[in-house]
Amino acid sequence: MSLAALLKKKNRKHLFTTPSHNGAFCILHKFYQWYRSDISETDVYNPQKALEKAEEYASKIYNTKSTNFLTNGSTCGILASVLACCSRGDKILIWENAHPCHKNAAVLAGAEIVEYSLPYNKEWGIYEKLKNIEQLLKENKPKAIIVTSPSYEGIVSDIPQIAKTCKLYGVYLIVDEAHGALYPFSNNLPESAITYADFTIQSLHKTAGGINPTALLHCNCNKDVKKALSLISTTSPSYPMLATIEANIKYLNSSKGRKKIETLINEIKELKNNLTNIEFYGDDITKILIKKEGLSGFELSKILFNKYNIEDERANEKSVLLLTGIGTTKEKLRHLNYLIRL
Ligand SMILES: Cc1ncc(COP(=O)(O)O)c(C=O)c1O
Repeated sequence: MSLAALLKKKNRKHLFTTPSHNGAFCILHKFYQWYRSDISETDVYNPQKALEKAEEYASKIYNTKSTNFLTNGSTCGILASVLACCSRGDKILIWENAHPCHKNAAVLAGAEIVEYSLPYNKEWGIYEKLKNIEQLLKENKPKAIIVTSPSYEGIVSDIPQIAKTCKLYGVYLIVDEAHGALYPFSNNLPESAITYADFTIQSLHKTAGGINPTALLHCNCNKDVKKALSLISTTSPSYPMLATIEANIKYLNSSKGRKKIETLINEIKELKNNLTNIEFYGDDITKILIKKEGLSGFELSKILFNKYNIEDERANEKSVLLLTGIGTTKEKLRHLNYLIRL
């Protein structure tokens, strides 16, 4: 199938997957006219200045030293963070099953990778949170550590405690919060790492309604992230994409945006109360990790797809992950109530 044909495809399943706008919810209708806004950085109205101002504004919202808009995903934010704080030969602690960009970042910086493992939860087929970091730091004396929190499945590590220990040992803390872009905008979600970590990276496209692959790099230390970003970025950024990031943040921070997040949370709470026949797990309510006694995760996934017209994000031997985000409608969530018949 050609790309054009693929994009036109109708009659999709009820998607519980990224991207969170799901092709149905668009914060930014005016950007449908993409080409009209596709200007270059040499434009007479000085888009570079406008970008600078937009990033300063974002930095105020998130209370950071700097917040940079990324049009190449969290991947790009992880690469830049590592390039900003690690030099050739420095040690960096990386989770052995982390997203590939973590190791790629170390390779680019010429840093020495030291892998760490996380406890495995056999009941759910997922990895648990990072603990006992002090031992890791004492043994390895790294320059930096990358922690993924939340995990894909919504497991959140104790970042304030980890940050404290990192400060004590003079280690830069980089938090991959790719799946936690809604956290700064609700007290009913886990606390964001932004206030505690040296670098926090969030994908707007995964949960916060942004288009693929918009993301943010928040920095709360004195490292030169702009310079690091310039090593891996084009000099011709997509201004329409950058503009969607600005509008996306404004929306999330508005009362309308915050209300939408609370509605999502409340709807999922209600759903969990209704579905007494299913087990739920995780620290982040928007990542619906489920299992059903007597069924493997793969079997459950198949039933959801074939019988209930539901496409999940991921399944493993034990459980199934249904991702929600700001684009998940009430109607779609209510469709999950049929699972009472499972
Ligand atoms: C935990 C984690 N970190 C980083 C990334 C990279 O994010 P992006 O697709 O925004 O580059 C992903 C993407 O799936 C991810 O799951």
